[in-house]
Amino acid sequence: MKLTSEEQAWLAGDGGPGLRKAMEIITALGQIYGAADTVAVGSVQIAGVSYKNLGDAGLEFLAEWAGQGARVRVPAYLNPAGMDLQDWQRLGIAPEFAQRQTAVIEALTAFGALPACSCTPYLIAPRPLFGESLAWSESSAVSYANSVLGARTNREGGPSALAAALTGRTARYGLHLDEHRRADVVVEVRCPVASEADFGALGYLVGRQVGQGVPCFRGLMLQPFDRKVPPDVDTRLRALGAAMGAAGAVALYHIEGVTPEAQGGNVLRKDARRITIDSLADGYAALNTTPLADIDLVSIGCPHASAEEIQDIAALLRGRGLKARLWVTTSRSVKTQAPQAVADIEAAGGVVIADTCLVVARVEDLGIRRLATNSAKAAFYAPSHAGLEVRFGTLGQCLTAAVTGRWPGVVD
Ligand code: F3S
Repeated sequence: MKLTSEEQAWLAGDGGPGLRKAMEIITALGQIYGAADTVAVGSVQIAGVSYKNLGDAGLEFLAEWAGQGARVRVPAYLNPAGMDLQDWQRLGIAPEFAQRQTAVIEALTAFGALPACSCTPYLIAPRPLFGESLAWSESSAVSYANSVLGARTNREGGPSALAAALTGRTARYGLHLDEHRRADVVVEVRCPVASEADFGALGYLVGRQVGQGVPCFRGLMLQPFDRKVPPDVDTRLRALGAAMGAAGAVALYHIEGVTPEAQGGNVLRKDARRITIDSLADGYAALNTTPLADIDLVSIGCPHASAEEIQDIAALLRGRGLKARLWVTTSRSVKTQAPQAVADIEAAGGVVIADTCLVVARVEDLGIRRLATNSAKAAFYAPSHAGLEVRFGTLGQCLTAAVTGRWPGVVD
């Protein structure tokens, strides 16, 4: 692997032990994946922020590395943490957990990382440019950056993303290279796909079949952006990418005529195989894990909700009260962009939670058994990560469940 003289000096320890560790991680990955050299990155997104997933060993690793004095060279955004960093007490988070989660954030910000605590950094920071190299971690963010924006990033682990932040570089392999960005599966969609839940169910079905592949959708109709008919196109694409990243390991997809790399020339590999989706029913069946109607918690905002989604939720709830708990999860930055909508949701009895989400927060202690969500990704992870039964459907169904305490249309 060819290194610049500066990178060789860092590897020899000239920049201190923290920078040497970062270069060791980058060169080790480069050698494993056969990288010819490194590439400069415009920004980094660091996963592995929740203490729930890191534990004490992860916290100690970060604190020791942070103590070695290295600092980030490019904007580095943190993924969601295990709690709302300001309002954790209102959510019933234990003080011991809060203290350790705070220590994780302190270790990461000591490097100079930005506590955005979001999986949607593209909603709160300058959007990456077409062709720009990145080192992002969280699967839905990686999918969005590669597919919708046409930027280039592998799915980094927490340490490798941090190493990229400290050096401003990553090993050039995988999705940084043209040959790995071509689709190896054509997905013929022959059924209506309209709501964000439909896009999530489609993503679940395709992710399961495609695994780590690069799918190219054919026949997927996206109505023009129209704020009168939520959800908007962007929300649907985020739902699709998040579900494929969860049910499979899809980090890049194309939609013919829509996504930037599939608007002109051919993005298919010669040996691309074909799959057909005739119905979303199997996706809905797999993601609905209970036939029962009573709902304890409705969770919206996976990936983190945009200001437009928060405004849609507020409009649908205005003047109504809630019988089930409602969480809308988003970044702190987006939360401050929609103060009236946040106030309306909270007046109805919901909470708009920043910095965290259902999957990475510690919800096991909150007495919640049954979840309703419009996110296929949240529905996929909630049983294994939080021990919850799930109802999965549209935003309208979820908000009806929040108002009545029951999933609509079920008699039991
Ligand atoms: Fe984001 Fe949490 Fe979902 S990190 S994509 S809101 S699981």
